Amino acid sequence: MTQIGIFFGGKDNGSTSKVAHRIQELFGAGATVHNVSSAAKHDVEKYDFLVLGTAAWGIGEMHSDWERFIDKLVEADLANKKIALFGLGDQKVYPESFVDGMGTIFCRLPFKGNVVGFTSTRGYNFYYSTAEKDGNFVGLAIDDDTQREFTDQRIMDWVNQIKKEAGI
Ligand SMILES: Cc1cc2nc3c(=O)[nH]c(=O)nc-3n(C[C@H](O)[C@H](O)[C@H](O)COP(=O)(O)O)c2cc1C
Repeated sequence: MTQIGIFFGGKDNGSTSKVAHRIQELFGAGATVHNVSSAAKHDVEKYDFLVLGTAAWGIGEMHSDWERFIDKLVEADLANKKIALFGLGDQKVYPESFVDGMGTIFCRLPFKGNVVGFTSTRGYNFYYSTAEKDGNFVGLAIDDDTQREFTDQRIMDWVNQIKKEAGI
């Protein structure tokens, strides 16, 4: 069975944690959630498939726990792992840096070719995002602040998509 590690940065009762746990529920057995505040490089190395999530903070930054964890992540051997990203943000208050934390994680990955789960930017209203490449987000964008009604469907569609793309 493919071992899936879901790593998120944020409060244990926050929206990012909630999305991480919903993704875990949809994958079922074989998926484990880690808060990056207490995760180590060897946690990353246990898994075949990594799902990495952060909210956007500051102006376009990752969650501060990710700032500390990202170096451990990129030191791990990621060559044979599939990776998928999700990002939370607020497109009304931060339309010039929407879900930028996800863009930063993507930017720091040593290989981009193993990233699955790009999604369309249709249905969102923002000016700029570092998480947008060639008209698509580099992962799942969730705006639980202003589009909560779409959150669960977006997560379900995306988990189906990444399962197919990763051959799970
Ligand atoms: C101080 C602060 C800065 C933020 N900066 C951004 C930003 O640059 N881009 C964005 O899309 N959302 C931004 N947000 C919105 C959060 O990413 C969003 O509310 C997210 O759902 C919070 O997730 P959490 O509940 O896991 O902490 C910011 C929120 C706060 C409070």
